[in-house]
Amino acid sequence: MSLAQPIHSNWFDETRAGFEASLADKLERFKGPSSELNEAMAYALLDGGKRLRAMLVFAAGHAVGTPASELGDAACAIEAMHAYSLVHDDLPSMDNDVLRRGKPTCHVKFGEAFALLAGDALQTAAFQWLAESNQGSVQVRMQQIAALANASGLQGMAAGQAIDLAHVGKPMDLDSLEHMHARKTGDLITASVRMGYLSNPAVTTVEKSGLEAYAHCLGLAYQVIDDILDVESSSEVLGKTSGKDALNNKPTMVSLMGLGNAKKLLAQLRERAFVACEVIKPSRRAPLETLVELITNRKS
Ligand code: IPE
Ligand code: IPE
Ligand code: MG
Ligand code: MG
Ligand code: MG
Repeated sequence: MSLAQPIHSNWFDETRAGFEASLADKLERFKGPSSELNEAMAYALLDGGKRLRAMLVFAAGHAVGTPASELGDAACAIEAMHAYSLVHDDLPSMDNDVLRRGKPTCHVKFGEAFALLAGDALQTAAFQWLAESNQGSVQVRMQQIAALANASGLQGMAAGQAIDLAHVGKPMDLDSLEHMHARKTGDLITASVRMGYLSNPAVTTVEKSGLEAYAHCLGLAYQVIDDILDVESSSEVLGKTSGKDALNNKPTMVSLMGLGNAKKLLAQLRERAFVACEVIKPSRRAPLETLVELITNRKS
């Protein structure tokens, strides 16, 4: 396997721009017979989204020496899975949201049935893109598919969403809330990092455990800041309706521990994420550190 190129200061912008173009291209070539479904899928997947999960795939891949050209399909897969989770999360039967990525939500634009189908098709697209990829060996891609499946379903995101909905308006202790956040959001973040490091079968046990710890901290931080922004930010800045958690009676880090303590927790998770990636050689660590900065300072 060829070594990743040395990192440069605009790594993030360039990698993300390249990713965005290849995602749009992939979807264009993937079109099916229903133009309305094609449109709903493209609406949910393209044009918006910070792409932080895709960037975690590239950063974790870089950390183990894999070039971006070997990681694009895994990055597209995680963003497709994530986009599906958002489309379903916004449905009237779930969070009932009308604004996403600064636009009307998929079901507002295309109707509930097409939003459901677009989510279904995005989820299967994620697996198809990995299964049919020519990036990495069959063994690597089997492991990436397993990582993505584990993170998305009954043990991961879907379970977290179920726990979330079951606790609307109900009390929850901190451990249970952490567990819920780790499932509904943390697991897809962990899958992003895993799919990145699994690209190199020679990844060491020490690198793996450091990257797992990194992913765990960032995954929880991701939802903690989401809960904070829901309270502190505006719909204009977020591109989604702010103040929605309180309105929907959701248990969140802010409702449970208060804004100040949620921010303290975020700061601790940020430090732990920085420490965790110290197992990676300094010359390969910068993208991981950039992502800690971007995720824990995100404003939208
Ligand atoms: C929002 O995720 C949902 C959560 C899991 C917190 P993002 O904030 O990453 O959403 P996009 O992809 O940038 O729109
Ligand atoms: C969503 O959590 C997690 C997902 C699995 C999509 P939220 O419900 O807090 O996400 P937003 O705030 O709607 O983006
Ligand atoms: Mg939700
Ligand atoms: Mg929501
Ligand atoms: Mg939220």
